[in-house]
Amino acid sequence: MDQKCYSVAIDGPAGAGKSTMARRAAQALNFVYVDTGAIYRTVAYAALSRGLSPEDGDAVTALLPELRVELSWQEGVQHMILNGCDVTAEIRKPEVSDGASKVAALPVVRDFLMETQRDAARTHSVIMDGRDIGTVVLPDADVKIFLSASPEVRAKRRLLELQAQNRAATFDEVLRDIKERDYRDSHRKTAPLRQADDAVLLDTSELSLQESVDAILNLIRKKTGL
Ligand code: DC
Repeated sequence: MDQKCYSVAIDGPAGAGKSTMARRAAQALNFVYVDTGAIYRTVAYAALSRGLSPEDGDAVTALLPELRVELSWQEGVQHMILNGCDVTAEIRKPEVSDGASKVAALPVVRDFLMETQRDAARTHSVIMDGRDIGTVVLPDADVKIFLSASPEVRAKRRLLELQAQNRAATFDEVLRDIKERDYRDSHRKTAPLRQADDAVLLDTSELSLQESVDAILNLIRKKTGL
């Protein structure tokens, strides 16, 4: 008999800690962690590296048939493969973050990437993080969590991440970037960032990383009986 595949959707704004927390929770449960932001970043990177504006709907639409976007897991780490090249490191640059939020507002891009995301959940138990996983991509997910934290706490966390990678940025720049992306991600017409009606809200502003991961694991175990 086939084993049941569980799906956990974790949505929330930029910098809420989704990826770190989802990755740790997936490790603890032996689930595959799927970072869907990386998929949008890959399309943005493809547009930027061809000199296209990520906001230019016609140019991005014309580009899509040329793109093969694939996920691969190497020692539990998700890699993004664009037309056969590993672009996992390149997609983390700040201009790609900004571009990703712009291509993500284009319905044609969201449609193009839908099956890639759903495919990953068909064959594995997954924790998938993004903005519209519980509302659009996996509306029947077994567990839905909406992770949030204040913009200031998120900016502080993002700044620490950037500093750890030796990237120069100030708190004010990071905070401004987070607020701009929040606005764009939650005001776009297609699949805006919003909490699914059946999602549990988890505000991590006052929680440590470990406390947040424990809270996520408790929710998953309670809902799935695992
Ligand atoms: O999570 P992230 O910062 O890597 O995401 C990059 C951008 O992609 C973000 O600004 C919003 C967009 N995104 C989206 O629209 N839907 C998703 N499921 C994941 C990310």
